[in-house]
Amino acid sequence: MFSLEGKVAVVTGAASGIGYATAKRLLAAGAKVVMSDLADAADKAEELGATFQQCDVSKEDSVTALMQRAIDDFAQLNILANIAGIPPSIETIEDATADAYAKQFNVNFMSQVFGMREAAKRMVERGSIINFASLAAHRSTAGVASYAAVKAATVALTRSGALELGSKGIRVNAISPSTTRTPMGYPGKFPELSAPMNRIAEPEEMAAIVHFLASDDASWVNGQTLIADGGMTSGVMPAVAQIVNESA
Ligand SMILES: NC(=O)c1ccc[n+]([C@@H]2O[C@H](COP(=O)([O-])OP(=O)(O)OC[C@H]3O[C@@H](n4cnc5c(N)ncnc54)[C@H](O)[C@@H]3O)[C@@H](O)[C@H]2O)c1
Repeated sequence: MFSLEGKVAVVTGAASGIGYATAKRLLAAGAKVVMSDLADAADKAEELGATFQQCDVSKEDSVTALMQRAIDDFAQLNILANIAGIPPSIETIEDATADAYAKQFNVNFMSQVFGMREAAKRMVERGSIINFASLAAHRSTAGVASYAAVKAATVALTRSGALELGSKGIRVNAISPSTTRTPMGYPGKFPELSAPMNRIAEPEEMAAIVHFLASDDASWVNGQTLIADGGMTSGVMPAVAQIVNESA
């Protein structure tokens, strides 16, 4: 079940956080993995038994070279975990600059466009592409408009990918994590007021979802964005309800 034996995966953002946990998880499931990041993670890849290719996901040529590396080394590409990204720039609607929007767009959105396109061109018969959006695409926080907007665009891009690539046997899905314990995710002071499970997510919990979506067991899952938020979008948190009820 959920075996990835015989499959080849490219994982972007693999030097850290969710990307690193995903590379580890896919390797454990039997996949051959090309780990990639802007940062040099050749040592980490060697330690895990993966290949490393440096890549700037905001640069078209760099992403093309990354996907081609999988073909050159392993003669196939079956899975893309499109994870690399930068954190939100914290600015109000009134203060946010065009540069801040452009940076979010170039890294957090064009990475998904280039990755999906260059991977799909090289996937034969079957493939699974997993894009990375964010809870901010569905239920945002004040001060992160540029990040929320491009993550919402990733959700839409994922649906288009599913429609156009489905007939080639390529499934395109996305994951929208809530705050996750990585250098990017900050825990905040009051998780009990924002998360029903009173904690933030662990990167391994996101990697487990990537694993499922990457596997043939998810063969009928296409065009979906899984909101991995521990229940945050289900409604008002019990701790908040208690405060409201007590003050009534
Ligand atoms: N951690 C969270 O709380 C959280 C919440 C929602 C969504 N996400 C999304 O999950 C994904 C992974 O985030 P994470 O928490 O693991 O972050 P992280 O900071 O731990 O890792 C991100 C990795 O992306 C790499 N990267 C940045 N710019 C790059 C570029 N131009 N080219 C190649 N690599 C680049 C970084 O070097 C880093 O290794 C991101 O897309 C992020 O937006 C994270």
